[in-house]
Amino acid sequence: MPSAAPVPRPADAPVRPPLSLLEAYLNLSEELFCEAGYDGFIRWLNPAWERHLGYKGEDLVDRPFVEFLHPADVRTSRPFFREIRRMRTGLLTLEARFRCADGTYKWFSWTLRQGRSPRLFFALGREMTEQKFLEESLEQAQARMRFMQDIAESSIHPFAAGDAGGRILGSNKAFQDLLGYTGAELEGLTWKDLTPVRHHRRDSRRHEAAHRTGKVQGYEKELIRKDGSLVPVSIFIHAVAGDPDGSPIHFAFIRDISDRKQAEERLRVEKAYWERLFQSAPDAIAIERFGDLKVVNVNDRFCEFFGYEREETVGRRLNDLVVPESLRKEGDSLDRRAIAEWDAPMETVRCRKDGTLLDVAIQSVLIRDGENSLGYYTLYRDTRQVKRAEASLRESREELRRSLERMERAWEQTIVALSNTVERKDPYTAGHQRRVSELACAIATRMGLAEDRVRGIRMAALVHDIGKINIPTDILSKPGRLGDMERSLVRTHSESGYQILKGIDLPWPLAEIVYQHHERLDGSGYPLGLKNGEILLDAQILAVADIVEAISWDRPYRPALGVDTALAEIQLLAGTALNQEVVDTCSTLVSEGSFSFAEASDAPLVAERKGPPQGFLFQPRDFSNLD
Ligand SMILES: [Fe+2]
Ligand SMILES: [Fe+2]
Repeated sequence: MPSAAPVPRPADAPVRPPLSLLEAYLNLSEELFCEAGYDGFIRWLNPAWERHLGYKGEDLVDRPFVEFLHPADVRTSRPFFREIRRMRTGLLTLEARFRCADGTYKWFSWTLRQGRSPRLFFALGREMTEQKFLEESLEQAQARMRFMQDIAESSIHPFAAGDAGGRILGSNKAFQDLLGYTGAELEGLTWKDLTPVRHHRRDSRRHEAAHRTGKVQGYEKELIRKDGSLVPVSIFIHAVAGDPDGSPIHFAFIRDISDRKQAEERLRVEKAYWERLFQSAPDAIAIERFGDLKVVNVNDRFCEFFGYEREETVGRRLNDLVVPESLRKEGDSLDRRAIAEWDAPMETVRCRKDGTLLDVAIQSVLIRDGENSLGYYTLYRDTRQVKRAEASLRESREELRRSLERMERAWEQTIVALSNTVERKDPYTAGHQRRVSELACAIATRMGLAEDRVRGIRMAALVHDIGKINIPTDILSKPGRLGDMERSLVRTHSESGYQILKGIDLPWPLAEIVYQHHERLDGSGYPLGLKNGEILLDAQILAVADIVEAISWDRPYRPALGVDTALAEIQLLAGTALNQEVVDTCSTLVSEGSFSFAEASDAPLVAERKGPPQGFLFQPRDFSNLD
């Protein structure tokens, strides 16, 4: 314990020792007392100096008081000492830092007054380090608060200040714009008023933690706008000492994260969509990482197809999972191609986990993100199903083809039956339709008409005179020229044929061709007197073949005149009544020997045929009975 006795004074110091009561007080006081001369040298001091500053008394006695002041306080203290010397009486107060024995400084409030003699002054020091610290802290807090308020006011980001009870004390324009309130309206509200109920508990925890720990609390929540709508925000709560009366406050820095939330939602939906697409794909799909080709993910179909659980595949190579031992070289080869962006489909064999072999088509597609290669989609399609489907399709097509053939045969048989019907009634034209049919087909084929159209022309020719079935046999068989009435009657056979055929649903316009087979390009034909452009080419071909056969072959009213006569006759009519190209084609066919009726009529349609009547007189160029 330091001695209560004042330290020995210098020999020349005119100072009396203190009274015992004063001495006791000075010994026990926590305040620093000392007396110094006007020269500033300390004469005596009490034990509190040692307790506060760590000195022994003798360390300070006879040392100048100002020597221990903080250099920054020396200048400010000089006027006080001058004033003490000048005033000689009265009290002066000085706040100055005094150096401790360990070199640190402590703040003291020094009260200076004249000492017990005119040459002494008395100093009383009360430590105020803590008070100074608090003052400085408060100043710093206030400065920080002002600084933050300035920033917040000018910030484009929403900002608000509130007290520990959650009451809004202030806000900037960005915050007011975000929520649709005015600044005055907000100051009457609390954070709870601005926050959905489901966030209240967490909000309270965060605010309490911010005020209790002083640590910034950052989290995401929603705020309620004045119109009731919600806005997602990120919020950072920073609690500070607050205003001079000491009430803690906090600042809330807020970011509108609507765009980010919407983007996250879009991303989530998109990811879910792609995941769904991936998992529900009908093909087995594996995703491999670029480089080491290890499986990252497989879809449900892959697991089902190859018999693996998803967890068994991830991190392994497809070569080890699904490539049969016998095809390992091929697998390695595909891997090398995969590295070189292999994406061509290939049919091969892969195996299930249980060793079952599967026919598959493989396609591997490189996944890129800009310039970066991320991995591969490898798709496996079960070609057994495809092959079964292809076989089934081939069978269906074959069956359809057979059905069509059967149908066409049925049509043809129907047409032939019709043809036979009329030829039985008109023996003189027996075989006529068959021969006309053969010649018309030859012309149409040489002219390059499609095979199906040629078939239609053949069918039409086989029944082109079917309308004669309605004409009395004696007129059809009449030798010699027909009278006007008879000729008119014969000419009805075109329309009669049309009427018979029009009700039959055939893939060719048989009824129309038959209707027009006596029409002529110059309008001289019958029954409608159609002209060029109104008559089917099929009917024009049939007309030429009909004339050539009629002249070439025997008729009831005359003997056969021969093919040459027939060709000469159609040449006379070519370009006027008959189609020039059709006539030329017919002439070419016959003259070059590509066609002859002898070959065409090998298979007569009627059982027997009568020769022309005796006494028949041929009249050249009189083909009025041609039908
Ligand atoms: Fe006819
Ligand atoms: Fe005919």
